[in-house]
Amino acid sequence: MIIAVDGSAASGKGTLAKRLARHFDLAHLDTGGLYRALALHLMRSGITAETAEEHSAAAQIAALDLELINSPAIRDDSVAGMASVIAAMPAVRAGFLVLQRDFASHPPTGHGAVLDGRDIGSVVLPDAPVKFFVDADIEVRAERRTNELQAAGQSVMFRDVLADMQARDARDRGRSIAPLRAVEDAKLIDTSSLDADQVFASALAHIDAAGT
Ligand code: DC
Repeated sequence: MIIAVDGSAASGKGTLAKRLARHFDLAHLDTGGLYRALALHLMRSGITAETAEEHSAAAQIAALDLELINSPAIRDDSVAGMASVIAAMPAVRAGFLVLQRDFASHPPTGHGAVLDGRDIGSVVLPDAPVKFFVDADIEVRAERRTNELQAAGQSVMFRDVLADMQARDARDRGRSIAPLRAVEDAKLIDTSSLDADQVFASALAHIDAAGT
């Protein structure tokens, strides 16, 4: 079974993807983690969003330590901002495309794979039999993100998180290559007033109804 989960930042797509993976014994790839890992790698070399250059950024993918995906450092909002900048570079996306498709066709564990990101259903795995598009009001997402960061000990303010998220949304939705969008065959889940259990139940009901 292959499941594509796309959605906006802090929409709950990652939580849903992890739960689906556990439930169906599927391998899980957080593809945002790939862009974040490359962003952190570049930042550690002194490269900024202003100085990042498409082809040299893409060339770093081959040498990228994929263990960085598990590093808490990639969760920082500065890394997220840089990730959304390099994610708009076609050569970077092309480099990660191969890796993502390879993960889906040869999942390291389990009986298939769940990939979550922005363009899984539209570009990476357009033939995935199950697709979700997860979204929520931006104020709700910014509030969730503020709470998460504060719980992790960072002193952030809601209005700054909201402004960052608006800028990131605009970049993710407005870029010319693989913009964030819901494909026709994706099941839309608006998580604005749902908790994680309700989102999971809605996704399972969709999978059951589709008979996949
Ligand atoms: O899901 P996330 O917040 O970890 O993603 C970080 C950034 O990576 C996000 O701003 C957009 C980009 N991204 C992307 O362009 N395509 C994906 N499949 C996943 C993430």
